[in-house]
Amino acid sequence: MTEPRATALQLCPFTDHLEAGLRARFRVIRWFELDAEAQAAWLAAEAHSVRAVVTGGHIGCSNALMVALPALRIVTVHGVGLDKIDLPFATGRGVRITTTPGVLTDDVADLAVGLLISLLREIPRGDAFVRSGQWLDADRPPARKVTGRHFGIVGLGQIGAAIAARLAPFGRVSWHGPRDKPSAHAWQPDLLQLARDCSVLVVACPANAATRHLIGAPVLEALGPAGVLVNIARGAVVDEQALVAALASNGIGGAALDVFEDEPRVPQALRDDPRVVLTPHVGSSTVETRVAMAELVLANLDACMAGQPLPTARN
Ligand code: 8YV
Repeated sequence: MTEPRATALQLCPFTDHLEAGLRARFRVIRWFELDAEAQAAWLAAEAHSVRAVVTGGHIGCSNALMVALPALRIVTVHGVGLDKIDLPFATGRGVRITTTPGVLTDDVADLAVGLLISLLREIPRGDAFVRSGQWLDADRPPARKVTGRHFGIVGLGQIGAAIAARLAPFGRVSWHGPRDKPSAHAWQPDLLQLARDCSVLVVACPANAATRHLIGAPVLEALGPAGVLVNIARGAVVDEQALVAALASNGIGGAALDVFEDEPRVPQALRDDPRVVLTPHVGSSTVETRVAMAELVLANLDACMAGQPLPTARN
């Protein structure tokens, strides 16, 4: 008699490539397609069959779900953010956590640079201007120069360092983080001072208790009317209401945002503001990188099910 296939809970949609890879290995339950009542009924009958949870960095896995799955061995995150996972809690339950580090660094850094150039050079507004036919009647007013600026980066991890390397040819780069580390760029221990000194502040740090709303009213005020904010990290690092207020009072000059506090809901004030460039959390979303992320997710699952060392374990 063949062993019944182990069950994996899939907590969000993935590419066809990854979903096919999951189906080839597991009985896959598309958890995000069940309402709360259906989830509870399913758990009452089948919770014991689940060995793996497959999720996104922006979704994570709640402690309650881990508790509800007594035979759970692994939560594999398709992404690098661990802000929606209680790592010590998982470790305490013997649940392994993996992420997809390295393979998405370049894409997220590329998007950060693309966003800041789009914002300063007003590329989306220029695009709309041409499409709508307004160019037939007038020219666009000048935008703002990118080269020669002082760029401040909050968080010099893999992604922050990749952003710094891309921005260095454009101008001076300084960074802020909890402690200094070897880098070609100046460390600024005082975030308010960094915001005062630079005119583009790029958020690239992880979201956690220490960084929640790190970018609030005081930092935005220090950045000032000529300064702009770029966020490719997590919405929770920026106090969105303080950002809306700073824009409303012309306290800062604009923002480019890929991440939001309550995705996919974005405050109307940000959506209406032409000084804001918005993308729908697509930092790692390229065809090439999504293949590489999928391969890492599947490699971790295969290793876990075979009792072998996990390629990119976080606990
Ligand atoms: C993804 C992310 O958007 O790496 C992360 O933590 O937020 C992103 O790469 C997401 O996890 C896709 O599933």
